[in-house]
Amino acid sequence: MRVSMVNDDVLRISVVKNGHKYRESPAVVVKPTVDLASGENKIGPWLVKVNEDSVHVNVDGVEVNLRFSYSNGQFTIRGNLGLADIVYGLGEKALPLNRKRFRVTMWNTDAYGYRYGSDPLYVSIPFFIVTRNHVSVGHFADSTARMVIDLGVERGDEFTVTVNDDQVDYYVIRGPRLRDVVTRFIGITGKPALMPKWALGHQQSRYSYYPQGRVLEVAKALKDMDLGNTVIYLDIHYMDGYRIFTWNSERFPNPRDMVKKLHESGIKVVTIVDPYIKVDPNYQVFKEGINGNYLTLDSDGGLTIVQGWPGKSALPDFFNREARDWWSSLIERWVRDYGVDGIWLDMNEPAAFDYPNHTVTSKVITHRLDDESRVPHDYLHNAYALYEAMATYEGLRRTGRRPFILSRAGYAGIQRYAAVWTGDNTSNWEHLKLQLQVLLGLSISGVTFIGADVGGFAKYVPGDGGSRLFTLTPELLVRWYEWAIFFPLLRNHADVASPDQEPWAFGPRALELIRDLLRLRARLTPYLYSLMWISHINGEPIVRPLVYEFPNDDEVMNIDDEFMLGPFMLVAPMLNSGTSREVYLPGGEWVNLWNGEVLKGGYHMVDAPLGKPPVFLKSGSLVPTQESEGVLGILAVPGDGEFTVYDDDGESQSPTPSTLSLRISGDRVTVGDWANPMPQLPTTVILKVYLGKEPSKVMVNGVEVPKARFSAEPGQPSWYFEGRLINIRVKVGSETIII
Ligand code: GLC
Repeated sequence: MRVSMVNDDVLRISVVKNGHKYRESPAVVVKPTVDLASGENKIGPWLVKVNEDSVHVNVDGVEVNLRFSYSNGQFTIRGNLGLADIVYGLGEKALPLNRKRFRVTMWNTDAYGYRYGSDPLYVSIPFFIVTRNHVSVGHFADSTARMVIDLGVERGDEFTVTVNDDQVDYYVIRGPRLRDVVTRFIGITGKPALMPKWALGHQQSRYSYYPQGRVLEVAKALKDMDLGNTVIYLDIHYMDGYRIFTWNSERFPNPRDMVKKLHESGIKVVTIVDPYIKVDPNYQVFKEGINGNYLTLDSDGGLTIVQGWPGKSALPDFFNREARDWWSSLIERWVRDYGVDGIWLDMNEPAAFDYPNHTVTSKVITHRLDDESRVPHDYLHNAYALYEAMATYEGLRRTGRRPFILSRAGYAGIQRYAAVWTGDNTSNWEHLKLQLQVLLGLSISGVTFIGADVGGFAKYVPGDGGSRLFTLTPELLVRWYEWAIFFPLLRNHADVASPDQEPWAFGPRALELIRDLLRLRARLTPYLYSLMWISHINGEPIVRPLVYEFPNDDEVMNIDDEFMLGPFMLVAPMLNSGTSREVYLPGGEWVNLWNGEVLKGGYHMVDAPLGKPPVFLKSGSLVPTQESEGVLGILAVPGDGEFTVYDDDGESQSPTPSTLSLRISGDRVTVGDWANPMPQLPTTVILKVYLGKEPSKVMVNGVEVPKARFSAEPGQPSWYFEGRLINIRVKVGSETIII
């Protein structure tokens, strides 16, 4: 056992079985600095007592007692749990936000048609946060092998982590606030990647759009029906016999031309890439893989063969640098040759049809590490997708693009490379709520660019006798968009046998409602993009459970049917059929986005007609919006608040952002000057401030401004009042006082 500080806020206890060769973790981006001696150590706010097989920590007044033991190839870590403690985190789990009194497994699994309580799912993040009396401490058991985490099931006052591995790096992460733990966890596992701006667009997918003409038809419909910035996905049917990095020449006789046409109409293209390399001696990728020794082998040196989409398939061995470099070059060639914009990594648990639960598990399959050692798959399983994403990211970077990768599986750290979606969910009301719970867990476990298949993917649930319940109704689809538009990844996707579920598939009324929601989404892009930047810079989630923002409000501890978009916007979606719901608003005042009505903190019944999800803005809100081409809006609520708008060209690789600082204090709004301005940034801003009544006058930089509707030409400051909103046109670098 080696105990060390990683930095002032993170303690690491590394336990390694005698004689075992330690493997470096792919999750962690920092190295320990100071080793602690056995006995008592006092470091800043930490008191750490190191014994032979236990470590006692006191940090921020919280006692954490950890006991380590090893037997039969397993490490067990036991820790104390207070009876009233609450537990958050654990990444992608089909469980309530509070994960206390659940036992979960970390083992990336193909979980088609999962339900509430199904476990494990596709992503494993063995990180959890224990909150006691509003003080939070983080725990991260870093091992990529199978792990079971019991949070008070076996004993109410104890958690246990059992790891099928000969090594574990166990991290204790200091709070005291929940947000401190989350951002510090991201501090050690790496900052979320900055995605291209187009990734915030409305994305349309299905399994699968083909042939080429159909793809162009869908693109045209998206344009004609004015459904926002769009991305189209190509699922597995574009390939030649599911051979990755090929096209089916009958279905796609001219892919370059198709991609060019899509680009001309402003649509980006993302292609799926599975880890299956068809065993076919005439297939170039297979030949390269064999010749370069880039493929996964069994312990006897034979090629590992699994059943994937192409039938017998080999698996790239992403665990060594040479194989990753080869994969990067494949991705680079693919993207350069055809001009596709992003890569969708699927089945990367890895899934295989000839294994139990469709998921590879084996002590016989081995992976080659950089030092040439061979390690059985079972020790590395949960990291397969992470290494794949790493190599894919590098390949995309080589093309000069800002990478967009969407991954199904992952491990702690996946946020450095990829967005994650929640896999094969189902089109029913249960999932409308469950998906939120799954996403909020991911979000506070470091994965910030996330979304769920809008409308639901699967149309029947395994175990229901395979009956096909086509349960998607126009109401459910609209309700789904109602909250999905507030998530960074907004993608409608459906299974192969699913009836169509594009926004137009349910007739004009649903189409109109969805279009309006997508317009709201487009309007919110500056807010979402700024939040993405903030998440990239300091690890803050984009979408947050209420407890993240209001850690001292006991009422919000278990709320997972509402969420915050950034610091200001509370969304309380309709999760069942009906037209109103009860909403909890934490203390203070809130403004209803739709009608400007002011509500005090507490429980309220709120109207939610179809197309209008309950959305509230906190007092002191400053939400940047896109009002029209080149016109920046700021949706504000009187109170005290600050926000920084971030912008850049949306696609270069490591840009320095242009920033605009905003402040509101009472009825006084300060809009800074752009820092590090790039060309063509808006210099006129429309402040839209929710007010109960028309003000008597408006002063900008000390001068009274005329009351007048805005002329088309952005000119001098002026203002008008309409529907509880005062609209004030000002220049950047101004202070506005509403009297
Ligand atoms: C998996 C994916 C799904 C995809 C399908 C075909 O089920 O999760 O999104 O459409 O494979 O590629």
